[in-house]
Amino acid sequence: MRIDVLTIFPDMVKPVLGQSIVGRAVYEKKLTIHVIDFREYSPNKHKKVDDTPYGGGAGMVLRVEPVINALRAIDGYEKAHKVIMTPQGKPYAQTDAARLSTHDHLIILCGHYEGFDERIHAYFDEEISIGDYVLTGGEVAALVLIESTVRLIPGILNKDESHQDDSFSDGLLEYPHYTRPREFEGKRVPEVLMSGNHQAIENWRRTEALKRTKTRRPDLYARHQKAQKKHGK
Ligand code: ADE
Repeated sequence: MRIDVLTIFPDMVKPVLGQSIVGRAVYEKKLTIHVIDFREYSPNKHKKVDDTPYGGGAGMVLRVEPVINALRAIDGYEKAHKVIMTPQGKPYAQTDAARLSTHDHLIILCGHYEGFDERIHAYFDEEISIGDYVLTGGEVAALVLIESTVRLIPGILNKDESHQDDSFSDGLLEYPHYTRPREFEGKRVPEVLMSGNHQAIENWRRTEALKRTKTRRPDLYARHQKAQKKHGK
């Protein structure tokens, strides 16, 4: 996969992308990431990227030319899947990460200021929000999207890092995990996990995942129950 990030704060994203699983994927050449400072594409002699809104009002608006000039300078931009990070976008979920992970080329635009000139939207395929809160810009949101998407590309995680059991992958939260020691300050690891009985362990994990989802995320639980009923389970 190739990912291009359009931002005026490249240093907010570059160091993070060199770390952990994304960093390893880049190092192993399974992933190419370009971070593009679209300020360099401003036609303005002071490299301005924003301006006051027509009609008046507070705040500045991101101008269309720097963004679209930068976009058009990206190799293969026409065919790429182009995403705008904005609090006005579609709420992001694991199913979106799975969907995005199937694209060969993603272009992600990070906004700043009050918003984008409305005409920018026509050049992009979708708008995504990572939650109902407002960040100072789209950079952290773009990192969330990249992190969650890249780990789902086949061959990126090794066998010890499988995402099959991830929370949300089957619409439930994950079951509780334990490792050594068997007892810590009187808190013991559930016996079943040390029993070696794989069927019993699987049943316990399923039950715990259901219990945890029901108490912490009744919305997910209700959706899960409905889906189970539909499939006659
Ligand atoms: N930019 C600012 N806030 C955002 C959010 N919640 N999601 C995506 N992009 C954003």
